[in-house]
Amino acid sequence: MSGLTIRNLSTGYLPQRPCVRDVDLRVEEGTITCLLGPNGAGKTTLLLSLAGLLPRFGGEVIVDGLDVVAGRPRDAVRSGMVLVPDDRALFRELSTTDNVRLAVRDRRRRSGAVDEVLEYFPALEKRLRVAAGRLSGGEQQMLAIARAILQRPKVLLIDELSMGLAPVIVDEILSVLRRLVEDRGMSVLLVEQHVRLALDVADRAAVLVHGSVVLSEAAATLAADPGRIEHAYMGSGPDIDGEGKRTAVGA
Ligand SMILES: Nc1ncnc2c1ncn2[C@@H]1O[C@H](COP(=O)(O)OP(=O)(O)O)[C@@H](O)[C@H]1O
Ligand SMILES: [Mg+2]
Repeated sequence: MSGLTIRNLSTGYLPQRPCVRDVDLRVEEGTITCLLGPNGAGKTTLLLSLAGLLPRFGGEVIVDGLDVVAGRPRDAVRSGMVLVPDDRALFRELSTTDNVRLAVRDRRRRSGAVDEVLEYFPALEKRLRVAAGRLSGGEQQMLAIARAILQRPKVLLIDELSMGLAPVIVDEILSVLRRLVEDRGMSVLLVEQHVRLALDVADRAAVLVHGSVVLSEAAATLAADPGRIEHAYMGSGPDIDGEGKRTAVGA
């Protein structure tokens, strides 16, 4: 089976208190699944575990039919999983060009890396010599995604793509992401706060509440009936914060 399959995954920081429990998710090859859910639901924890940065307390992760060894970042990368973390993990002191080149392990491919990136993110052309730390938020996110793409992921995991960005920029980045998925046939698991933008770009959406998937559907079905997402969030009890709720429903 191609793409990403997650079965019964439990993970977290303490084995006796997993904060992600029994998660089942499928991301077909060449599709985008967006993962929604209030703050503290466990979205970041789930992505960190997939990337091998947190232990697995139970369950399986399968990429293109092959089991991914738990808790080992190198094995996760080798199996084709690449994470764009919520802090974007750039070398802030280094130029855009150097950030791009360092993303490519094979030296022979390094010279073409910048052109490959500019094909998708032409806005970076004027910023090639600027230190990554001095780029705008949108440019940083473009660079972070570009670095991930250069690693030829089978499964791309993106945490909080829109954090701190204006909706128009998010929209632009999401359309490039769609193009990348179509050109390269990756599977993308995208954690996104702008529900409407996320549903526009995604094929499927899942809602995580208190570490469990409470809703998983075709994005178009949910876009036509946003009340169901609201309802899923509301079922999350009194400790979800008001801001998370507003962003989720109104965005
Ligand atoms: N480093 C950590 N150590 C212990 N608990 C953590 C840590 N990071 C997050 N948590 C807890 O794990 C739960 C899920 O958090 P997180 O995955 O960051 O949620 P989300 O990304 O959906 O906002 C929360 O209860 C949070 O407090
Ligand atoms: Mg998070």
